[in-house]
Amino acid sequence: MKESSSPLTYNIFIMKLKRYLFLSCILTALLSMMLLGACSSEKKFKVGISQCSSDDWRNKMNEEIMREVMLHDNVEVEIRSADDSSAKQITDLDYFVNNGFDLIAVAPNEANALTPKIKQIYDSGIPVIVYDRDINGPYFTAFQGADNYEIGRMAAAYVANLTSETPKIIEITGLPGSTPTEGRSNGFRNMADSLGYSIIAQASGNWNETGAAHVADSMITRFPEVNVIYAHNDRMALGAREVADSLGRSDIKIIGIDAAPRIGVQAVSDGKLDATFLYPTQGHALMKTALAILQGEPFDKMRILPSPAHVDRSNAQFILLQDNALREETNKIGQLQARVATFSQRYATQKICYMPLLQLFFFLQSSFSCYYVSIGIANGIIARWRSATTSSPTNATNSTASTTNCSKPQARN
Ligand code: FRU
Repeated sequence: MKESSSPLTYNIFIMKLKRYLFLSCILTALLSMMLLGACSSEKKFKVGISQCSSDDWRNKMNEEIMREVMLHDNVEVEIRSADDSSAKQITDLDYFVNNGFDLIAVAPNEANALTPKIKQIYDSGIPVIVYDRDINGPYFTAFQGADNYEIGRMAAAYVANLTSETPKIIEITGLPGSTPTEGRSNGFRNMADSLGYSIIAQASGNWNETGAAHVADSMITRFPEVNVIYAHNDRMALGAREVADSLGRSDIKIIGIDAAPRIGVQAVSDGKLDATFLYPTQGHALMKTALAILQGEPFDKMRILPSPAHVDRSNAQFILLQDNALREETNKIGQLQARVATFSQRYATQKICYMPLLQLFFFLQSSFSCYYVSIGIANGIIARWRSATTSSPTNATNSTASTTNCSKPQARN
C-alpha cells in the first residue's frame, strides 16, 4: 500500500513545488523591477518665489535665482510677481500653498497687509524666507535683506558731492508701509540733520516712475529753491528727471537707489542721474539658503547683505562693462543648458522606447533563471532524500526514474 501510493504523492508534491517556485520567481522578478523603477524617479523640491513687483531690479534677482537653479537637479522654481498689489501677492502665496510647494520665499509688498498670511504659512510648517522687504515679526525660517537705514545715511552723506550750496532737498519715497521706505527715509534724515541739510518736502512716488513724476511736477513748482532730489529708487529718480528737464530745471541734481545695471547704472553713465546706491539682489544666495533649509543643512537665519557702495560717473562705465561680461557668460551658460536639454530629451526618448523592452527582458530572464535554478536545487534535494529513504533495488530503480523524470515535468504528466 505504502509502495503504490508513494510515486503519486511524490508527483503531486513535485507539481506543487514547481508551481510554488514559479510563482515566487515571478514575484521576485516583479519586485525587483518595481524597485528599479522606484530608484529612477528622484524627488524634486518645489520652491515658490513671490516677488512683490516686476522691474529691472527684480529681473536681475530672478536671473540670479535661475542661474543658481541650473546647477541643481533636485529643485524647481516658480516665480510669481504681485505687480505691486498686496491682494495679488496673497493670492500668489495661496497658490504656492495649495500646490504643494516645499518652500516659499517672499518679498512682502507691504508689511501690515502681508504679515498675517506669511505668519499663517510659517505656522503651518512650510519653510518661509522673507527677503528684501520685512514683515511685522519674526515669522520666517530665514531673512535676507540689506540695511536700508545705512543706505539712506550713505545717500545723505553723498549729497555734499553734488552742490557747493546748502542742499535743499525734495525726498520722493517708496510705498508707505513697505519697510525699505522707512529705513531709507530715517537713515537719510538722520544724516541730513547731522550735516545741517534741509529736506524741504517729502511725498511718496509708490516706487514707480509715474508716481514720482507727479510728485516732482507739483513739488518743483511749489519749491523752486530745490537743488537736490533724493528718490528711494532709480525708477522714481528717472521719473523726476524727466519732469525736471521738462520744467527747464536740468540744474537739479538727482540721486536714486538700486544701481541695477540696465536702468540705474546706465542712467548715471548717460548723465541722467547723478548717483545711485547699490541695493544688493543676491538671488543666488537666496536659492542657496532655500536649498540648505530643504536639505536640512546649516544656514544663516538673518543674512544682512553687505553695506552699499555708490555708483557715479567715476565708476558707472566700469560697472556696465562688468555687467556686459556677466551677461555674455550667462548667455553661454544658457546655450550650454539648451544643449544639455537636447541631449536629455534624446536620452528620455530612448529611455521611453527601450525601457519597456529592457524591463521585459529583465523580467523573463530573472523569472526563468530563478525557476530553473530552483528546480535544479529542488531535484538535487529530492534525489538525495529519495535515495536516503529507499534501500531495496526496486525502490532504488523507481527512485532514479522519478528523479530523472522530475526534471521533465511534461513527460510524466
Ligand atoms: C523693486 C523695488 C526697488 C527697491 C525695492 C525695495 O521692486 O522697488 O526699486 O529698491 O523694491 O523693496
